[in-house]
Amino acid sequence: MDSIVVRGGQELQGRIPIAGAKNACLALMPATLLSDEPLTLTNAPRLSDIRTMSLLLRSLGAEVATMQDGRVLALSSHDLSNLTADYDIVRKMRASNLVLGPLLARAGRAVVSLPGGCAIGARPMDIHISGLEALGARIELRDGYLHAEAPKGLRGAVIEQRFASVGATENVVMAATLARGTTVLKNAAREPEIVDLVRCLRTMGAEIEGEGTETVTIEGVDRLHGATHPVVADRIELGTYMIAPAIAGGAVELVGGRIDLLPAFCEKLDAAGISVSETAEGIRVARANGRARAVDVRTAVFPGFPTDLQAQMMALLCTAEGTSVLEETIFENRFMHAPELMRMGARIEVHGGTATVHGVDRLKGAPVMATDLRASVSLILAGLAAEGETVVSRVYHLDRGYERVEEKLSGCGATIERIRGE
Ligand code: UD1
Repeated sequence: MDSIVVRGGQELQGRIPIAGAKNACLALMPATLLSDEPLTLTNAPRLSDIRTMSLLLRSLGAEVATMQDGRVLALSSHDLSNLTADYDIVRKMRASNLVLGPLLARAGRAVVSLPGGCAIGARPMDIHISGLEALGARIELRDGYLHAEAPKGLRGAVIEQRFASVGATENVVMAATLARGTTVLKNAAREPEIVDLVRCLRTMGAEIEGEGTETVTIEGVDRLHGATHPVVADRIELGTYMIAPAIAGGAVELVGGRIDLLPAFCEKLDAAGISVSETAEGIRVARANGRARAVDVRTAVFPGFPTDLQAQMMALLCTAEGTSVLEETIFENRFMHAPELMRMGARIEVHGGTATVHGVDRLKGAPVMATDLRASVSLILAGLAAEGETVVSRVYHLDRGYERVEEKLSGCGATIERIRGE
């Protein structure tokens, strides 16, 4: 297994290009299942999660070709030869469940494995299931698989989600594009990835309004056609690299970044004394003098502070002046990075969903272990600010969501390298 070695203490200067969003791409790819015409996605990120989704789509009979070194994905679902998403693929990546809505809508039937346990919490599927049932699907759980069918097709409905789940919103919106009549989805998720998916579906001929608000209205159409769509910038990659100069000092321009993708996060960086400004090509982040200041953070659905940036923010607050309180409201078990940061000298107390971080002057390099995708990058960020060497092992988590981390950071002056394992 590969590991990443970081030697801390260098200020960062330079530019980092922001890739297309993993989470947008993982929802856009299954949209191919809704049409028998080709879907081309440009600005795709080159990540192992994208390869997992390609495998899954191919297992259903779709064709997935990568072009321009993986930046362009050419998808085609002319014939669907299999309607079962197998456990072996789904257990690797929860976003595999995003084939459920499109398969049901196009083929009237789908069998999708439940994803099983996930390191950051239980993550059930009840909101997906009740939304699709409201559209007329019958769904049963047998042998660990959801067996869904809609023999008479799906029909529009008024649905109110008990929580604004990102995945459930994506599944229901995709399914409703081909349902008979109008669907009104209330308490819909508003994340930029949903807006991006809706834009693509609209280019494919879907009739949808209200994306980015709490109520999305979908007028079902008979069929969708082919399209070419550029994947929106990855706001989580953006936020992660915004923390890098904040924690290590210096100034970095994030090319392709936009403040409106991360409103609450940018406000918190500002409150912590980090300078964030828009440039012609993206966002510039700088920390001129001294340490960052402590700030309190509470994760929330968009436009709130993203749970996917909580670990990275914690890394920053470990060396901030004062005491910060971080509250995690989206996932019940998402502080696994805290004990690893404590091995580097951080002072953190975790009680349930709340972590209290007492800032220290300096972290110290240590061998640490990545436990999930965002936790692993938070340890790399902490390593940038630590004295001595930090070795982050189990970085396969990292490769699911970040392309070329070590190149992007070393391009700005960080001392970081990947050690290839067996
Ligand atoms: C997506 C993102 C993930 C991010 C999360 C929250 C993708 C591929 N992944 O995940 O990176 O951390 O949004 O911003 O886009 N829940 C239920 N029942 C359901 C569905 C969800 O109880 O049917 C709960 C989950 O257990 C979790 C919370 O709702 O506690 C948020 O989940 P959801 O918004 O669905 O996240 P994902 O779509 O899985």
